[in-house]
Amino acid sequence: MSEVRVVLLGPPGAGKGTQAKSLVASLGVPHISSGDLLREAVTGLTELGLEARSYMDVGDLVPDELVLGMIEKRIGGTDCAPGFLLDGFPRTQAQAAALGDMLNARGGPLEHVVALAVNRTEVVERLAGRRSCPDCGRLYHVRFEAPQNEGRCDGCGTELVVRDDDREETVRQRVAVYENRTAPLIEFYRQEGILHEVNGSGSPADVRGRILEAVGGQA
Ligand code: AP5
Repeated sequence: MSEVRVVLLGPPGAGKGTQAKSLVASLGVPHISSGDLLREAVTGLTELGLEARSYMDVGDLVPDELVLGMIEKRIGGTDCAPGFLLDGFPRTQAQAAALGDMLNARGGPLEHVVALAVNRTEVVERLAGRRSCPDCGRLYHVRFEAPQNEGRCDGCGTELVVRDDDREETVRQRVAVYENRTAPLIEFYRQEGILHEVNGSGSPADVRGRILEAVGGQA
């Protein structure tokens, strides 16, 4: 594939991060996760992080004006010349419109939007068992993707952590916010003719195969 501009959409826990990490090598473009960028800002105690934290802690969306500058800067990076795989952005109609404007200005439109469909029960179960490596970012699940040594990253041995917003009441709020503010983008991108609805259940390898088939990539 030459240039590839793809968005992964889906509810919290749908597997966007898991799939993006495994797809970057096949697609040859960087993975850009708005959630990861915001968490880095929070950890780094930057002005953006300090403002974003209060929204993230309760499962609400960080205001568009904060997120847009961050994404515009990131997709302007030289590593994004061949494209990108966006995970968690856009999440509102205003973000989708702004992304369209950014890409028009850069001369290459969005090519594919993959909407991962996973039911609410499965999403809650996935988030309740998620663990992640604070050092290398690798994702695990206590049942579905357990590390070889309990609580330790297989790659770098660092102690795994539970994300702050994976508490039950915050997850409920994140799912509600997704349904109200982000799910309408599915219809928006269907109208644009670039939507692929992909079943996000089954093994990560099966889901990956379905995504690659949808976007015309090589395994
Ligand atoms: P963000 O980090 O984007 O979180 P999210 O969209 O809620 O998605 P998650 O990261 O929770 O889930 P995922 O779909 O990536 O699933 P994963 O692969 O980890 O956003 C966090 C917060 O930041 C937001 O609430 C908001 O406040 C803010 N924010 C971010 N972007 C924003 C924006 N654009 N605008 C405004 N605010 C923004 O998988 C989950 C678990 O399931 C893992 O344990 C994994 O091992 C397991 N798993 C994955 N696939 C499978 C499978 N096929 N079978 C079984 N288990 C699986």
